[in-house]
Amino acid sequence: MTRPDALESLVSLAKRRGFIFQSSEIYGGTGSVWDYGPLGVELKNNVKARWWNAMVRERDDVEGLDAAILMHPKVWEASGHVSGFSDPLVDCKACKARFRADKLSDAACPRKPSKKPGEHIDCQLTEPRQFNLMFKTFMGPVEESASVVYLRPETAQGIFVNFLNVQQATRQKVPFGIAQIGKAFRNEITPGNFIFRTREFEQMEMQFFVEPGTDMEHFERWKEARLNWHLGLGLDRDRLAFHQHTDKELAHYARAAFDINFDFGGTLGFQEIEGVHNRSDFDLRQHQEYSSKKLEYVDQADNKRYLPYVIETSVGADRVTLAILVNALREEAVEGEQEGRTVMGFHPALAPIKAGVFPLSKKDGQPEMAERLAAALRKRFPVFYDEAGAIGRRYRRQDEAGTPFGITIDSGSTANDSVTIRFRDDMGQIRVATSRVAEVLGRYLEADHAQADSRLVE
Ligand code: GAP
Repeated sequence: MTRPDALESLVSLAKRRGFIFQSSEIYGGTGSVWDYGPLGVELKNNVKARWWNAMVRERDDVEGLDAAILMHPKVWEASGHVSGFSDPLVDCKACKARFRADKLSDAACPRKPSKKPGEHIDCQLTEPRQFNLMFKTFMGPVEESASVVYLRPETAQGIFVNFLNVQQATRQKVPFGIAQIGKAFRNEITPGNFIFRTREFEQMEMQFFVEPGTDMEHFERWKEARLNWHLGLGLDRDRLAFHQHTDKELAHYARAAFDINFDFGGTLGFQEIEGVHNRSDFDLRQHQEYSSKKLEYVDQADNKRYLPYVIETSVGADRVTLAILVNALREEAVEGEQEGRTVMGFHPALAPIKAGVFPLSKKDGQPEMAERLAAALRKRFPVFYDEAGAIGRRYRRQDEAGTPFGITIDSGSTANDSVTIRFRDDMGQIRVATSRVAEVLGRYLEADHAQADSRLVE
């Protein structure tokens, strides 16, 4: 089954509601770079916090790190990026478009009628040449080859070069991991599909250092753990699939690799959102050789020393955010109403705004009571206060922002000190004492319910 293409409607909703804007839009935009607006930054921060909690805070065998983007240029020689991090590029001399030679069958010639590159009579494709994807810049005031540095194309190398620093500072014993979240840059030849493939993006990577020989057992464990993490975000099970790399697909450093793919629908279909790789001791061995510094782990208990193997989990924060947006978007009819509604059905824990607070009327002290409640709730989570327009429209605005709870202050509220909580997904309502609102919502946000559903409240 091919799911419908949600990207087009998502791009316009994302702009209209302040999730994601094109970078430098007033100047015509920058190619494949995007800015996160007020709702988008909350959503992506929630994704990153959830990853950090699962990978670092809730474990005693993974340590956190925040390495710099600019690194010694030799790092990228050792890692193989200077010589090998390239894609085959072909130019069309007729229309000046550029394509990845290995993705021609997925590409479209910019000329009309729409055809694949090379299929128009006057297409003139060059022979493929290798194009390095790393962005280069200069360290210091002199622009000469000795001062070339690169914007990192992956965060992983910052972890490898700090392996012994972290191990010695924390006295961790193998097996243990190091995790970090940070920006990465790739001068992609054919970026696109909104925030799916961009030139500046964020990675959440973890390198787990293990004794050689135990690597495949750790690899299997991480594969399952990472799939479960995606399920915990509320991504539908049937939209997620493993893809095992064939020998041809395996990177030069990898002994085994699985992608976790998500079905984005439309022509994009199933695409990688995360890679789980067995990188052997390739990286530590390379850095040991290029730096001439011993990077072996000393196992004092067993009186052994060795270069650990590395199981890597590498996920794009932007790609997962796109998967969450695609998964959450739904248009539905509403019984008894002419207009349907657009709902972003985010997992409550990921939702950018947790609750909308609405006085039903501007009289009888309702706005004052609502503002007091909103201020109290804001101490715990993001809340949106809205007294403008019909209550139905206010609910719809929050449905579209993915706000899981709507709290309405009505005439009964001032008399009984109680409010209604409306649930975004089933639109059911319950009445609770004002003093219990924070506790009820808090229980929801801490629980692992993927839906905001009134049946789950006692
Ligand atoms: N350290 C291993 C590594 O970087 P990768 O498969 O090249 O592996 C890992 O990248 C993840 O980073 C991908 O699964 C994807 O989520 C994200 N990613 C890679 N390139 C990207 C791009 N151009 N735009 C957005 N996300 C990207």
